[in-house]
Amino acid sequence: MSHADDRSFRHGGMLVRVAADSRSVCLRAAELIEEAIRRALAARGRAVLGLATGSTPEVVYRRLVERHEAGALSFRDVTTYNLDEYYPISPLDPRSYRSYMHRHLFGRVDIAPHRAHLLDGTVPEPFAAEHAAQFERWIAADGGLDLQLLGIGRNGHIGFNEPSEVSIAEALRLPTRLVELHPVTRADAARDFGSEESVIPRALTMGVATILAARSIVILATGAHKAEVVAAALTGPMTAKIPASLLQSVAPKVTWILDEAAARGLSHYRFADR
Ligand code: GLP
Repeated sequence: MSHADDRSFRHGGMLVRVAADSRSVCLRAAELIEEAIRRALAARGRAVLGLATGSTPEVVYRRLVERHEAGALSFRDVTTYNLDEYYPISPLDPRSYRSYMHRHLFGRVDIAPHRAHLLDGTVPEPFAAEHAAQFERWIAADGGLDLQLLGIGRNGHIGFNEPSEVSIAEALRLPTRLVELHPVTRADAARDFGSEESVIPRALTMGVATILAARSIVILATGAHKAEVVAAALTGPMTAKIPASLLQSVAPKVTWILDEAAARGLSHYRFADR
């Protein structure tokens, strides 16, 4: 499907689409997800999606629900794995990502509850590492992720893979694990928790290696507050300090979908190599 108002170009082998506004970004992402589901169902009779939370993808899920309600899209043969979850947290806590996914998608489409996976914020800490390893084994046993949807934090995080000082080689190998949240992440999460001090300071996150192994990766960014980090991740050097820059290592399978505001830092590149 093509969109007259979309502009697209390649940068470093990654596809970059610039849509007029945040709604268009989300509609385009929903289309890519629907296409990925159809393609996987045709090839293997099932589809496996990696899903994201945050404010950016809310309209993506609304669109998928609309398509389901219109009878155009079924999740009956779809399995999902979410990127991350606060730790510790009850799935019933309205601030949990389990609860977010239920509100925005799982509770509104025909997905089988036992195929909608999130990392479990109630697992006792001594078992967290084993739970994370098991999550990766489940993804592998399901044949890997057909498409991983991503947002990007203002600090460049993907999932809750936070900026760090490790080498690129080490960063590319990061597995699913328990992590400490970065100060910028905590500041941004304050809107969901009432204050920065109330933000749960740890989380379980799918690892960088797990994300990069997906067959295709769609990363969304909207708003002027993301422009700087988008430019750094897309056009700067690969570095663990900006985890989204690690997507450059699997460039041919990555699609960025940006609104005009988030793409502002790319103006010099926009028509460079399309
Ligand atoms: C959250 C999530 C990320 C998300 C990011 C951006 O904390 N853990 O997966 O992509 O931060 O969030 P938003 O879309 O609200 O800007």
